[in-house]
Amino acid sequence: MTDTVRCCVFPVAGLGTRFLPATKAVPKEMLPVVDKPLIQYGVEEAAAAGLTQICFVNGRHKQAIENHFDRNVELEQQIAGSGKELLLEGVNGLMEQCRISSIRQLQAKGLGHAIGCAEPVVGNEPFAVILPDDLCVNPGGDGVLAQMVELYKRYQCSIVAIEEVPMDQVNKYGVIAGTEEAEGIYRIEAMVEKPPVDQAPSNLAIIGRYLLTPDIFELIRQTPPGKGGEIQITDALMKQAEQGRVIGYKFKGLRFDCGSVPGYVKATNYCFENLSRPD
Ligand code: G1P
Repeated sequence: MTDTVRCCVFPVAGLGTRFLPATKAVPKEMLPVVDKPLIQYGVEEAAAAGLTQICFVNGRHKQAIENHFDRNVELEQQIAGSGKELLLEGVNGLMEQCRISSIRQLQAKGLGHAIGCAEPVVGNEPFAVILPDDLCVNPGGDGVLAQMVELYKRYQCSIVAIEEVPMDQVNKYGVIAGTEEAEGIYRIEAMVEKPPVDQAPSNLAIIGRYLLTPDIFELIRQTPPGKGGEIQITDALMKQAEQGRVIGYKFKGLRFDCGSVPGYVKATNYCFENLSRPD
């Protein structure tokens, strides 16, 4: 097994029902934050971390995601020489830098199942997972995934990004408990998917960034349906955690929950004020 993390998996088959009616015909990952679709922020973060193989685990009716990372020759011809071609430089650069592929998740059986679908692309290598709903920024420093790739070199085990959330919010997340080995770095001893507030082991919530060792695929296969009747990545990871092989990392930066309307609005305001765009 190589040490290099090359592949980033994006589970994007979900229906985005929290954003209806906006997501009736448009995938939620294609909703713009200012002028870029949410998914592009995620792919930019993966590319900036040096990951060159992008794998979308996609569902029916969501081809717009694949189309966004393909050429649009008619459009390019139309805008050639107008100055507007600059607006496509970012996404075109990602298409050159990365090999982008997609796999269909045939049934909505949960996040663990979605990640398991990526095995034929990932193979026997450590890999990353980005949930694009969680938009992460770290102005002036490395992106969250780049921080985790760096940490992997030291720990060589699975890593989940964590954040303290208000106690009354823990039931929306995977929640961990563990021993803080170094500042912001926890050796995970317990993790529970969306626990009731009074049963949560802490207020340290897993956010949508994972770095996983490939034995997770076999563990996913062995994982029975859990919370909500779905195959949960949290449950598969717990089996690695029982062997002391999962780190929780309090990342540097900000996270916006773009799966909720308030988080999406906050992200939009933040990006409009703080991130530059070509005029
Ligand atoms: C998923 C995971 C959960 C994690 C969350 C982060 O839940 O199952 O453990 O805390 O992502 O965004 P979802 O938000 O997809 O329901």
